[in-house]
Amino acid sequence: MDSVKKLLMGNKAWVMDKLSVHPDFFARQANSQQPEFLWIGCSDSRVPAEDITGTEPGELFVHRNIANLVIHTDFNMLSVLQYAVEVLKVKHIIVCGHYNCGGVKNAMTHLDLGLINKWLRHIKDVYRIHQRELNTIADHQARFDRFVELNVTEQVRNIAETSIVQRAWNKEGRPIVHGWVYDIRTGYLNTIARMEPGFGLDDIYTFDFGPPSPPKTGPSS
Ligand code: CO
Repeated sequence: MDSVKKLLMGNKAWVMDKLSVHPDFFARQANSQQPEFLWIGCSDSRVPAEDITGTEPGELFVHRNIANLVIHTDFNMLSVLQYAVEVLKVKHIIVCGHYNCGGVKNAMTHLDLGLINKWLRHIKDVYRIHQRELNTIADHQARFDRFVELNVTEQVRNIAETSIVQRAWNKEGRPIVHGWVYDIRTGYLNTIARMEPGFGLDDIYTFDFGPPSPPKTGPSS
């Protein structure tokens, strides 16, 4: 069978499957969503967010890019983040990386890959920050695995450093930010980082959301 036709056939089978369990499955979902989680994951085809967490449509608000990066000038990611935090009011943000990530692997090399160099550059920054630890790991796979974990930890920090998240922390005491790594070799998720509202941020990154100070009056004439 044509590979694209196979997808459309798969869709029909999936609809029948859902309706056989809950005849109103789609009718219930048609008008709104109330996901509790924002998922920021890798685009890798082996890491499907809903499948590996056993979740259904409606449960995860999802953003995926190469190597699950949180970059402060990425308006795609920032728009997803703002909508998730301010409109959907998610309680948890999960940054999920995975072992054997191609983006992280290439960032460990000196290959010139064209446009994607610009994206991988952000992962190289993670290596530079943690080079003392990473360079002590002699085994290549072990160093690669640790680099994947440290990349997730840094993206968790990047999420917490946004004014979007800090404002929600300040006003509503949510969301909790989690860093997970999916082990592509076993199927299991490892929890490796967690930031509770208001804790763990370096001072230089914190925003002051206090009331605006009154306008200064000029010298009286
Ligand atoms: Co990846």
